[in-house]
Amino acid sequence: MPKITIAIDGFSSTGKSTIAKQLADWLDYIYVDTGAMYRAITLFAMRNNFISETSFNQQALIDSLDQVIISFKKNPETTISEVYLNGENVEKQIRTLEVSSFVSPVATVSEVRKKLVTQQQEMGDAKGVVMDGRDIGTVVFPNAELKIFLDASAQTRAERRYKELLGRGDKVVFEDVLKNVVDRDRIDSTRKDSPLIKAKDAIEIDNSEMNLEDQFHIILQLAKDRI
Ligand code: C5P
Repeated sequence: MPKITIAIDGFSSTGKSTIAKQLADWLDYIYVDTGAMYRAITLFAMRNNFISETSFNQQALIDSLDQVIISFKKNPETTISEVYLNGENVEKQIRTLEVSSFVSPVATVSEVRKKLVTQQQEMGDAKGVVMDGRDIGTVVFPNAELKIFLDASAQTRAERRYKELLGRGDKVVFEDVLKNVVDRDRIDSTRKDSPLIKAKDAIEIDNSEMNLEDQFHIILQLAKDRI
């Protein structure tokens, strides 16, 4: 059966990765969480004090990019693909609200984007890939056979994110999570390089009132129609 490329973009916490993972499992495709790659570089920047509440030394980060190796490896127990920063599994560390608060400024840096987009294009080179992010349908794979753009109200998205963080045992305040979601969307949509916008040929789905199962079946059907 021929394989296609599926790009899933959208605002933060719209459930892109959940749907993308399910779809990749069902189709036996590779799943790539590109947000995890931006988060891993952000963790690198935080650990090296390139970014803090008060400053962001972009040049120091750019000068160190050659030292950053991002990779994915499947956890044999869960079969979920986890992200590694220079050989260290950082899957848990990259999901904190602190990393979320620094990731969008880091993702505005063109050199960071160039490095990651090149790697993403290599990973999806052979097709048979479901990739989620912000610029997959517009920049990484502008010729993807299926492009989905997910949206939901900020309140719904923040509630989902809040539950997820509480579920992990993180002590967070709802208002902080909501603010982070709104702030990230603003920075992601207004940056100069590869802003978050719906590709002209993307199919938009607002999942505020939709359950996961219905969403999955709609997107799976759209994929099957293109294979
Ligand atoms: O998908 P996730 O919420 O984990 O992404 C974290 C951040 O990484 C986004 O808010 C955005 O700033 C950045 N990102 C990006 N381009 C992508 C994926 C993520 O700029 N393709």
